[in-house]
Amino acid sequence: MRLKDFYMYRSLSKLLICTLAMLSPVMGLAADPIVIRFSHVAAPDTPKGQGALLFQKKVEEQLAGVVKVEVYPNSSLYGDKEEIKALQDGKVEMLAVALAKLGSYSPKLKLFDLPFLFNSQAALDRFQSKPTGQQLLLSMEKQNIAGLAYWHNGMKQLSAQKPLREPEDIRGLKIRIQDSDVLESQFQLLGATPVKMPFNKVSQALTDGTINASENPWTNLYSKHLHEQQRYITESNHGSLDYMLITNASFWRQIPFNVRIKLETILGEVTYEVNRQADAQNQKDRAKIVSAGGNEIITLTNEQRQHWQTAMQPVWQHFENQIGQDLIKAAQYANEAP
Ligand code: LMR
Repeated sequence: MRLKDFYMYRSLSKLLICTLAMLSPVMGLAADPIVIRFSHVAAPDTPKGQGALLFQKKVEEQLAGVVKVEVYPNSSLYGDKEEIKALQDGKVEMLAVALAKLGSYSPKLKLFDLPFLFNSQAALDRFQSKPTGQQLLLSMEKQNIAGLAYWHNGMKQLSAQKPLREPEDIRGLKIRIQDSDVLESQFQLLGATPVKMPFNKVSQALTDGTINASENPWTNLYSKHLHEQQRYITESNHGSLDYMLITNASFWRQIPFNVRIKLETILGEVTYEVNRQADAQNQKDRAKIVSAGGNEIITLTNEQRQHWQTAMQPVWQHFENQIGQDLIKAAQYANEAP
């Protein structure tokens, strides 16, 4: 074969392979399915855990043989520390990461950690669904991370081995926090010692005394039995635990267009379900904790709640420059009725 013919033959073969790769899902030709490894740190019976399973089920029903979703809950594949790097390195394809853990990738996302920011889940929904909220999904493109949706868990409650009624009560406690500078600053302001720690280490740390307080929604307290290790739970609702569903941006772009559209439609349906059910799941787990009878649930008076809010408020000014005043205003605006 002459050199010219060889090069032409090679280019044609390459073209054929690429075309087949792109068309096989459409034409139903046998090809390896696209695998989406969905790793997360929570238990299956939580809003995020249920969302991951629903996504897997719908993909199995609607894209069998074309896309396969594998779900790895409970930090079984990667814990907090490693999962985002694993996503960037192409070792997993999907995560639902607490927004608190994404502030170092996109400082604007620190917004979501500001205490007492949204006055209801409906307000949070309003903010996230508007263009300002949607743009934040794209704020980590430079790090090859694409945001696909926001998933709710619920409002965070404070738990400890002593009753926390007033902000002074938390002084001197070692409270576990997610990897977030805002949360660190918030608890430092109260005279507590915040300890950044992956979620899967919390139970052991409560046992060995590395920490003696924590904050999480009811679903995480219940599913990880954390309520069994801390007698007092203050229904403080001082902030929300919300997730961003993220993927490796290059991986997502490489998915054939028609398949990607289908996946995005499925994700839209799953997101709707997760967010519709998250509050009910939290209330269900709260009721289970109450009926187990081992905890004292502290309901704050309006005055006590106001004290916590006032004590935490300086965090807002502290992070205003990193987040941007416009974004904070947009979030506050979402608190006003539709
Ligand atoms: C935590 O670390 O407390 C939460 O972000 C865990 C989770 O993902 O729900």
